[in-house]
Amino acid sequence: MPVILITGASSGIGAALARLYAREGASLVLTGRDRTRLKAVAQECRERGADIRTRIIDVRERTEIGAWIRELDSATPLDLVIVNAAVNGGHPSGGLETEETAFETADINLGGALNVMLPCVTLMSARGRGQIALISSLAAYAPLPDAPAYSGAKAALLAHGLALRQKLKPLGVRLSVVTPGYVKTPMGGVIKGWRPLEMSAEQAAGRIIEGLERDRDVIAFPAILAALARGALLVPERIRSAGLSGFRFRNRPRR
Ligand SMILES: NC(=O)c1ccc[n+]([C@@H]2O[C@H](COP(=O)([O-])OP(=O)(O)OC[C@H]3O[C@@H](n4cnc5c(N)ncnc54)[C@H](OP(=O)(O)O)[C@@H]3O)[C@@H](O)[C@H]2O)c1
Repeated sequence: MPVILITGASSGIGAALARLYAREGASLVLTGRDRTRLKAVAQECRERGADIRTRIIDVRERTEIGAWIRELDSATPLDLVIVNAAVNGGHPSGGLETEETAFETADINLGGALNVMLPCVTLMSARGRGQIALISSLAAYAPLPDAPAYSGAKAALLAHGLALRQKLKPLGVRLSVVTPGYVKTPMGGVIKGWRPLEMSAEQAAGRIIEGLERDRDVIAFPAILAALARGALLVPERIRSAGLSGFRFRNRPRR
């Protein structure tokens, strides 16, 4: 029975991944901060026949997360870990992101991701088996002026993940970086602006699962937006940034 850990499973893409993986014989470990929403997702997954464990935990709690992952893995070795929890940062009325928001975003989206990923890297490489998915964003390729800390954290995660992938491959551990475009979730839904080729959380989760089954290095979607974001890195910055002006947005604070 594969054991899958998903962080940020109480909402959006994480919850959609949990629902898609939930079936007879699957063992899922779901984390989040909101008890009520996490419980509701867990219940839906149990009704689909999966064995479900939940944990309310803030990914910024490095010591607690590391100890818990080691304990979890020693009881039931983790086959797949999806490092998904994040916040969007930005400014509610499109102004300059505050220091407080920028630090919080970096702490959760980068620090929190590493707090989950690194203990798994250690455990999986020691036993020569396992798979890790880092949920980054197309903002890693196309930094968004309205979400600088978010874009920076996602770019760091992309670089860290791709570098590690090379080291982990000979050790029997697969690592993929996922760079979604616009996805209709509580996070994506607060973006006030043009959201080209927006997908549902279920569609995004389906693409992620398919990419992980194929052990893709980068799982980027939708294809056209991904090609534009990646290709734009080759043009002069003043042209690239002018082209981004249609993507200005405002973030309402998260619930
Ligand atoms: N939606 C998009 O358009 C889009 C595009 C590209 C990439 N992504 C990426 O996809 C992933 C999922 O995003 P989403 O759209 O599904 O967002 P979402 O609906 O807002 O869900 C975010 C999840 O992260 C959890 N989380 C946030 N801060 C946390 C913390 N400090 N500790 C533990 N858990 C925390 C939330 O838990 P609680 O709610 O329980 O606090 C929630 O379960 C993120 O990495 C995001 O950057 C999203």
